[in-house]
Amino acid sequence: MTTYRITLANQNDETYEVDHRRPLLESLRERGVDLPYGCKYGGCITCAAKLIEGTVNQQAQVALNNRQLANGYIILCVARPTSDCTLEIGVESHDTLYRNPFLDPLAPHELKADIATPKEEAP
Ligand code: FES
Repeated sequence: MTTYRITLANQNDETYEVDHRRPLLESLRERGVDLPYGCKYGGCITCAAKLIEGTVNQQAQVALNNRQLANGYIILCVARPTSDCTLEIGVESHDTLYRNPFLDPLAPHELKADIATPKEEAP
């Protein structure tokens, strides 16, 4: 079994060794880390955290758009670590997660990947 070290930068740099095969939400909650969650399948964004350093596999997530991904957000209920990682967790990490779409609309390249690609025009 491969394990990676997860450091929580905004929780006094507490560290946890976790199994690379399991979602971070599951592993961290088992260790007593209090993390918000909702759907647990990558769709609602409640469990978002900011990845400061390291890499994860979060192919199953559908909640984040390209702007949020570019800002380093990950979805803990589906993200599995592929290296040692440093995270910021909880609502304190959500400073750039949301923005008012009426004041500051997303540009086409910031939309979700599956809707960011222009579709062919109907004849
Ligand atoms: S709990 Fe809904 S996206 Fe993670």
